[in-house]
Amino acid sequence: MIRAFPVQIAPSMMCADVWQLAEQVRQLEQAGVDYLHFDVMDAHFVPNMPVGTVFLEQLRVHTEVPFDVHLMVDNNDFFVQLLAPIGVQSISVHAESAVHLDRTLGLIRSYGIKAGVALNPATPLSVLHYVTEQMDYVLIMTVNPGFAGQRMVPSAYRKIRDCRLFLEENGVEVPIQVDGNVSFDRIPHMVAAGADILVTGTSSVFHRDGTLLDNIARVRQAIAEGLRMRHHDSHQFA
Ligand code: DX5
Ligand code: ZN
Repeated sequence: MIRAFPVQIAPSMMCADVWQLAEQVRQLEQAGVDYLHFDVMDAHFVPNMPVGTVFLEQLRVHTEVPFDVHLMVDNNDFFVQLLAPIGVQSISVHAESAVHLDRTLGLIRSYGIKAGVALNPATPLSVLHYVTEQMDYVLIMTVNPGFAGQRMVPSAYRKIRDCRLFLEENGVEVPIQVDGNVSFDRIPHMVAAGADILVTGTSSVFHRDGTLLDNIARVRQAIAEGLRMRHHDSHQFA
């Protein structure tokens, strides 16, 4: 299985140390991470509210790293319109909260922002069927949304694989983003299953036992291991 996308790293900023934030953003930038992932929650769609949009606004002027926003809110269109002027590069919305998903994806794209569909662990891939033309990526939640530090759900690897097959069978060439317990040990299996964008939080990039730079090096090693596994699998089933 040859994927058309390089595997990218998106550190989840709700896992950063607020007291060291400026230094951590500088280090992430120097380490060449591909995005900064921001979890915007309304304490209603999920029972939490780690960061507000002012956090993004204030950070925006200090770094060029693309901002990837994961909305976990009831009113997606309100937050899309709030975020657009800040200068974010991608926004994912949950299919479970978007009453008018097609329209919301179109609204995101109307600002020139990449539009992603986020799926809770239990949500079937079939909800993607009639928005494949409107989406730029799929976010497969590998934990139930709302909190950092959780354990990956049992179906995660299977769902990533099923999502890759779904996209291939429907001729949809978009990357798969995975989010939740993307750990050093799980990254190889997630990448082998088809993950292209890794949202990395407390179990990898922000792991307390290592420095940011060491942790990112370990993530890159784990990605390389996953690509070897992918290559081996594709030969196996060729
Ligand atoms: C959870 C968020 C994730 C979370 C990842 O709802 O979407 O981005 O911060 O944290 P870890 O990697 O610790 O699961
Ligand atoms: Zn997230």
